[in-house]
Parts: sequence; C-alpha cells; structure tokens
Amino acid sequence: MAQPDGVVLPYAKAIKEATSLPVIGVGKIRTPELAERTLATGGVDFIALRRTLLADPDWPR
Ligand SMILES: Cc1cc2nc3c(=O)[nH]c(=O)nc-3n(C[C@H](O)[C@H](O)[C@H](O)COP(=O)(O)O)c2cc1C
Repeated sequence: MAQPDGVVLPYAKAIKEATSLPVIGVGKIRTPELAERTLATGGVDFIALRRTLLADPDWPR
C-alpha cells in the first residue's frame, strides 16, 4: 500500500515491447485518469483492477 499508484506498470510496457502477446497492466490503478492514460500510452492491451473493484464494484461505470 505504500507504493505509488501504477508503480509496476513500466514493467508491463517493457514486456509488451518484447512480445507480440497481449499484455495486461496491473497494480494500484485507482483513478480513471491513470486507467485511461495506461490504456492510451502505457503500451498495454488491457488493465486489471483488483483492490479497486473490491472497494467499489461499480468503479468502471
Ligand atoms: C496484500 C496483498 C497480497 C497479495 N498476495 C499475492 C500473492 O500471494 N500472489 C500473487 O500472485 N499476487 C498477490 N497479490 C497481487 C494481487 O493478486 C493482485 O494482482 C494485485 O493486488 C492487483 O493490483 P491492485 O490490487 O492494485 O489492482 C497480492 C496483493 C496484495 C495487496
């Protein structure tokens, strides 16, 4: 919990650059802004949300 939002997303981007397989970015994506920015410029195909959806299942709406 002490880590900054999206702290491991750069690793997902690096993996995406090394493979043609779909890559999912994950890790403390808590704001719509970070979610949209990750999908637009983070180099990943999908994002996953865990604690965010545990806290608020309606968050994606
Ligand atoms: C307290 C805690 C324990 C976790 N333990 C594991 C684990 O043992 N194995 C694992 O693969 N992922 C573990 N995770 C990662 C989660 O399964 C999940 O991938 C991660 O929390 C997703 O990021 P988010 O919750 O920030 O959306 C853990 C996460 C938290 C917060």
